[in-house]
Amino acid sequence: MTELVRQRDQLERIRALWRRAEEPVAFVPTMGNLHAGHYRLVERARALAPRVVVSIFVNPTQFGANEDYLRYPRTLEADLQGLRALEVDLVYAPKVTDLYPLGVDQAVRVEVPGLSEILCGASRPGHFAGVASVVLRLLFAIEPAVAIFGEKDFQQCALIRRLVVDLNLPVALERVPTVRDPDGLALSSRNQYLSVEERIRAPVLYQSLQAVAEALDQGRRDFPVLERKAVMQLEQAGFVPDYVAIRTEETLAEPDGRLGPVRYRILGAARLGATRLIDNIGWPAV
Ligand code: PAJ
Repeated sequence: MTELVRQRDQLERIRALWRRAEEPVAFVPTMGNLHAGHYRLVERARALAPRVVVSIFVNPTQFGANEDYLRYPRTLEADLQGLRALEVDLVYAPKVTDLYPLGVDQAVRVEVPGLSEILCGASRPGHFAGVASVVLRLLFAIEPAVAIFGEKDFQQCALIRRLVVDLNLPVALERVPTVRDPDGLALSSRNQYLSVEERIRAPVLYQSLQAVAEALDQGRRDFPVLERKAVMQLEQAGFVPDYVAIRTEETLAEPDGRLGPVRYRILGAARLGATRLIDNIGWPAV
C-alpha cells in the first residue's frame, strides 16, 4: 500500500513505526512529473531497503526569478499511479509551508562553495544552494539509510556528496545512470516544453558530448579546443549553449591533461528555444 503524506507530523508517525521495526528507508527525492528516469531510481531504491519513500516537491528555492517555477508540470495523480505500481511505501508531497515553516524568504539555507558557482551554477545563481537546502531538510525529515540520485544531474550528485561528506550525514548515496529516449535525448520533465521541431533537434546535445568522447578516445587532450568545437556544433543546430566542459569526474575541476589515469565527465548545457537542456557522459565509457 502506498501512503500519500502531506504533513510532517503524519510522516513522523509512520517514520517512528519503521524505526521501531528496524526497517531502513531508501529515499528518492523528486519534483514530480515522473518519467522512466525517475522510476529507474525508484526501482533501485526498492532493491536497496525494505521501505521506499519518494518525495514530490517542486522546490521554490532552487528556481531563479525568471525560471519556470510556476509553470513546472505538476501531475500528482499520474505520479501516484506510477509509484503505486512500483510498490513505493510512502509518497511525501508537502506543501511549501510544511517544508519551510518560516516561509521561503526567512528559510535557513546551506551554501556549498565552489561547486555551486561553476557550470550550471554560473548561469543559475542560488540554484544549488536551493537544492542543497531542500535536500538537507528532506534528509532530516525522512532519515533514510540511502538516498538515490540520477547522473542526469551530475553536478547535483557532486553537490549532494559534498553536503553529506562535509556535514557527516548518516546516509549512503547511490547514483543511477541517465535514462534516455531511443534517439539519445536524456529524459527530462522539461522535454515536454520542446516544440515538435525542437524535439527532433534536441539529441544534438548528446551527440556533441559523444563527439568529444570520440576525440578523447583518439588521444586528443586539447580540452578547450574540443569544448569550443562542441559549442559550435550546438550553435549550428540552433542551440544557445551555456557551456560544454570536460572535467575530472571526482571533483568537477578542470583537468590537467598530464595527469592520468583519470576519469573525465563531459558536461553540456544549452537552450533550445525557451527550454534549457543539460546532459553529461562519462569518459572512458564503462
Ligand atoms: P527532478 O528533476 O525531479 O529529479 C529527481 C531525480 O531524478 C534526480 O536525482 C535526477 O537526477 C533524476 N533524474 C531525472 N531525469 C533522469 C534521467 N533521465 N535518468 C536518470 N535519472 C534522472 O533533481 C531534482 O528533481 C531536484 O533538484 C531535487 C533533487 C528533487 C531537489 O529539489
